[in-house]
Amino acid sequence: MTPQLRHMLRDDDLTHEEQKQVLELGMKFRENRFYKQPFAGPQGVAVIFDKPSTRTRSSFSIGVAELGGYPLVIDKSGSQLGRGEPVADTARVLTRMAYGIVWRTFGQDRVEEMAKYADCPVVNALTDEFHPCQILADFLTLAQFKGGVDALKGMTIAYLGDAANNMSNSYLLGGAVAGMHVRVAGPHGYLPDPAIVADAERIAAENGGSILVTTDPKEAVAGADCVFTDTWVSMGEEAEYAIRSKPFWPYQVNDELMALAKPDALFQHCLPAYRGKEVTSSVIDGPQSVVWDEAENRLHAQKALLTWLVGWQRGDESLLA
Ligand code: CP
Ligand code: NVA
Repeated sequence: MTPQLRHMLRDDDLTHEEQKQVLELGMKFRENRFYKQPFAGPQGVAVIFDKPSTRTRSSFSIGVAELGGYPLVIDKSGSQLGRGEPVADTARVLTRMAYGIVWRTFGQDRVEEMAKYADCPVVNALTDEFHPCQILADFLTLAQFKGGVDALKGMTIAYLGDAANNMSNSYLLGGAVAGMHVRVAGPHGYLPDPAIVADAERIAAENGGSILVTTDPKEAVAGADCVFTDTWVSMGEEAEYAIRSKPFWPYQVNDELMALAKPDALFQHCLPAYRGKEVTSSVIDGPQSVVWDEAENRLHAQKALLTWLVGWQRGDESLLA
């Protein structure tokens, strides 16, 4: 294969077949934590945080180490990015040293800028617009509990809550790539950007899936294979909790709403959760919840993604499967 520099900036950076390949690789890493070690050396991977994190920080730090590499974890407050060094200059420096760059930041334009100037793979570890690593972990969790990666195509998934946030956008695009029937429901004023819905509809049609955007939580959940939610206030919006949360109460995932999904439906939440708000404790701690497996799958999915991306960069087909 011809070497090619690939990045993971938004969920539709992978085709249907490529997403399957990454998820199959993730299943292998779940069985054997040390399945491949593409960063043996150890080679350094920069993991940068402009926003707080528990899961992403631990899964990328431990994941890079398990891939044989050295995770260089940089926080905004302790770096020159924090005082405004241009992204392009940061990229030019890191790319001379690191074999990969993982970044959690604000605007999507920032990760795009990083990718433009880096000559190693760049991974979006959450922006205001997308959270593609979370979607890979969530779909790996579906594969784990619902009959493997091939079973994803044709599944119905429902996301409730802030339908204009990064998770909603990523379910739309990632689910469309997977060929799922994706339903997102939120109140007026918190529905996804029509441009993202249009992209999702086009991709879903190519892969046999469909997209439904609605303000009716029951319509979204009816007969779903999995119900997802996320916080009603994303990082940076916490001070607005009281005002922002008001229109979201009808979208709380509780036992009544879960009862409308398939009897064997799963519940997932990217975490951290506000218990008693977007989800009741009875659901998140209940028998349909797989949130701890979902969190663990961040590790396996991201190791698979990094391995797959460096496989492309090096033209090494053995790293793709
Ligand atoms: N789900 C997720 O990205 O969690 P963290 O914010 O803890 O990384
Ligand atoms: N929508 C949330 C996701 C956290 C993992 C946020 O951006 O804060």
